[in-house]
Formats: sequence, C-alpha cells, structure tokens
Amino acid sequence: MFAKDLLKGHKILVTGGGTGLGRTMTERFMELGAHCIIWGRRGGVLEETAAELREKTGGSCDVDAVDIRNPMAIDEAMERAFTGGPLTGLVNNAAGNFISRTEDLSPNAFNAIASIVFHGTFNTTNAAGKRWIAGGHKGNILSIVTTWVWTGSPFTVPSAMSKAGVAAMTQSLAVEWGPKGIRANAIAPGPFPTKGAWERLMPQTGAGSSGLESLTAASIPMRRVGEHAELGNLAAFLMSEHTEYLTGEVIAIDGGQWLATAGNFHALSAWGDPEWQAARSAIQASNASDRTARTSG
Ligand code: HXC
Repeated sequence: MFAKDLLKGHKILVTGGGTGLGRTMTERFMELGAHCIIWGRRGGVLEETAAELREKTGGSCDVDAVDIRNPMAIDEAMERAFTGGPLTGLVNNAAGNFISRTEDLSPNAFNAIASIVFHGTFNTTNAAGKRWIAGGHKGNILSIVTTWVWTGSPFTVPSAMSKAGVAAMTQSLAVEWGPKGIRANAIAPGPFPTKGAWERLMPQTGAGSSGLESLTAASIPMRRVGEHAELGNLAAFLMSEHTEYLTGEVIAIDGGQWLATAGNFHALSAWGDPEWQAARSAIQASNASDRTARTSG
C-alpha cells in the first residue's frame, strides 16, 4: 500500500515536528521519500530529532526554531521554507493544551492555548497559502485536530474552541482555495500517548488516580490506544497524490472512541478542589521544566 517512494519529490513542513505526533508523521514522510522541514520552539530538540530521523530513515530533514505564536517569525521562516522550491505540503501539528475547570481560567490561560492552536495555525496556513497562490503552485494542508470539534470537550474548553476553529478553516479553505489547486484536510486522533499531551491531560496528581487511564481503554471500542505508526500511515496517505480528490474532510482515527463517549474528560466532573489543585501544580511543574529546557535548548 505504501510504496517506498510514495512521497518522493515532496517537501513537507511539519509544525511541532520535534516531538510526539509531529515527530511520528515526519519519520513516516521521510521513510517514504519526502524532504521534511520541522518547526518547533526548542532548537536543540529539533536538531536532535532531525539527526535521529536522518540516521533511522536515510531521508532528509531541515529544522527551523519557530514559535508559531509570533506571526513575523512565521512569515520569515516560511520564506526560508519556500527557498529552493515551494512546499508541497504543510502539516499543522503544533498545539498546546491542559485540563482545567473553565471557571479557573484567566484570559492569559485562554490565550496560552488559543495563540498556538487558533492564531498560530491560521497564520502558518496563510503564510504557506499566499506563497502557493502567488507562485501558481499546488498545495496540501493537513491539520491535526481532535474529535472535540464535533462534541466539544469539558475541562479543555480553549483547546476545543480553537480546534473547532481549525476544522472550520479546513472546510472553508477546501472550497476557497480548491480552484487554485490547494486542498485541506484534518485528522482527529483519539488517544495516541505522547509525553506532552499526557503530562497535561492526565497529570500525575498524587491525589489518587484520576481513573482516566483505565477509562480510556474501557471507553474505546477497539479496547486500546492508538499506535503511532497508524497515525503516520493515515497522514502519509493524505499527503500522497493518491488522495488528490479528497478535500475538506476531518477524519477521526480513534478506535471508535468519540462515537462511544462523546469526549474524553466527562469523568472529571467527580473531582473536587484538592484534585484540581494537585492537577494544576503537576501541569505547572511540567510547563516550568519545558521552559527551562527551551531556555537551555
Ligand atoms: C489553570 C493554568 C494552568 C492550569 C497554566 N495556567 N496551567 N490555569 N490550570 N493547569 C495558566 C497560567 O496561570 C497562566 O495564566 C497561563 O495559563 C499561562 O501559563 P504559563 O505557565 O505561562 O504557560 P505557557 O508557558 O504559556 O505554557 C502553556 C502551554 C505549554 C503553551 C500550553 O503547556 C506548552 O507549551 N504545551 C505544549 C505541549 C502540549 O501542551 N501538548 C499537549 C497538546 S494535546 P496567568 O493568568 O496566571 O498568567 C492536544 C490535544 C490532545 O492538543 C487530545 C488527546 C485526546
């Protein structure tokens, strides 16, 4: 199904490509012959990932340390990405999220998520789209959203709102930019364990297990979490020429979970103040350690 040179001649930018799902997709694209460019905030992490993936796949990968909360930085980096030839594909993967009671969120907390997922994804997409349109090039946009775009999601309202916006962008641009040869799709992954997401969505609170881990497996009709290779394959399929007529779609890959549960965090309604305080401390400790890594990276 996935011929060795499926993505030969492709040049694909993956935001948040240094870790987690972004790294998984980058690895699969490189294995299948694409040249990749990965963006992320931590230069050191990007360099390390690119070196490991070049070694593992024999493919090629460039890195650029870009914070997609900064529109100027996006535009400059997009110019570099198009140097030597247009991108053929853009994967909007960079995201941020944490669980919290909505009434505990400050405006700044909302912006911490929306500035990455909502504004950052739009600005990155538009920076690529303008260049594709100006040059008369074809383009392919793939955004990573969640099944919350259909159900909403309690305790992760800024993420659910922002991801729903990205799904609306996907459908809108499929129509607006379709005549220009640009397509846009999204993948809504269910639970694919990654360090970044798990530390913020299932923090180890020390106040007793949230029960979410077991809830997750029990709530998935396929009775397991996703394997990263499964997501990599779907992303590669959507980036390939074989799906050129497929546009404007949001495709869930979640073992049937959203149909069974309509959202991931309803069980947290049982938490009281101690659990929420412990979760907040655990998340902030994780954020602080990431910030330290960024400063030193
Ligand atoms: C309430 C909180 C909080 C919490 C932070 N804040 N944590 N409020 N509860 N648990 C508030 C802070 O008080 C502050 O507001 C504001 O949010 C910003 O806090 P910072 O500590 O400065 O955060 P920041 O450094 O901006 O980092 C936040 C982040 C970071 C950008 C989201 O965690 C990050 O870089 N994450 C990337 C990795 C990640 O999140 N991956 C998960 C993606 S998962 P005040 O008012 O006090 O200043 C995903 C979907 C998964 O997208 C789907 C699974 C099924």
